[in-house]
Amino acid sequence: MSFKRKDLLEIGALSPEEISLLLDAAEPFREIGGREIKKVPALRGKTVVNLFCEPSTRTRTSFELAAKRLSADVVTVSPSSSSAAKGETLLDTARTIESMRADILVIRHSSAGAAETMAGRVGLSVINAGDGRHEHPTQALLDLLTIRDRKGRLRDLRVAIVGDVAHSRVARSDIHALTKMGAEVRVVGPPTMMPPGLHRLGAEVRHRLDEALEGVDVIIMLRLQLERQERSLFPSIREYVRLYGLTAERVRRAAPDVLVMHPGPVNRGVELAPDVADSAAAVILDQVENGVAVRMGLMYLLAQGQGA
Ligand code: CP
Repeated sequence: MSFKRKDLLEIGALSPEEISLLLDAAEPFREIGGREIKKVPALRGKTVVNLFCEPSTRTRTSFELAAKRLSADVVTVSPSSSSAAKGETLLDTARTIESMRADILVIRHSSAGAAETMAGRVGLSVINAGDGRHEHPTQALLDLLTIRDRKGRLRDLRVAIVGDVAHSRVARSDIHALTKMGAEVRVVGPPTMMPPGLHRLGAEVRHRLDEALEGVDVIIMLRLQLERQERSLFPSIREYVRLYGLTAERVRRAAPDVLVMHPGPVNRGVELAPDVADSAAAVILDQVENGVAVRMGLMYLLAQGQGA
């Protein structure tokens, strides 16, 4: 099976078979990161433009490394260095990049739907690297790859996603991806951080963390997104930590071989107690490592489709 899409915009639109294909495509690229010379010629002659209109450490670096390891030519554009600062629209920026014969455009933007809007109007492949509160599809893929690698499967795993679900594009993409692959997903957080309609995505909503963690195989902690909250959704950070912070004591409620995950950046001492973040159960750096392989696999498949 080949990946028949021009773009990757959201996990919600993918079938389980497409998700499996994307995970399988990442596997052979994992080994390349361990080589002395971390380069293969798969995207030689192709051009990848990273357009990041919001801050990013992991995703931007990961896409850049992935494209370079595939031997693509890579340009990274930030808002301060682009003509967006002079009033150019996002669409005109995209068309300008297309006119330079770029092959893949990776975009992060604060507006939900930004990647989709561009993808519908340009011929090059567009990858959504996070759009507002909507989706972060490659984060979900790297999360699933990390879980599948450690647990050997996704089906029937019990996964708790904890925290500020309302503002989290990672949560939305993870819920879509995990439920499509047959995992049981519980989302946990205060009512003010739960968007309506989560049950329609197949997730069970819980508000008490201690109970929700009983027997789970995977805990995905979300970052408290203070920059996206228009009003305070919790009385104080101290209160949030007391009720929803992951401590070693709380981790003991989960399955003995539980995985603790976090998309980063981590607010140490808020979402995760420092000893939990540094424990053997935490696979946060594995997630980062798998992110490069996932993005290599994805760009490889998209480039193959362009040649079809
Ligand atoms: N996980 C993630 O998207 O991190 P960055 O914001 O650093 O890219």
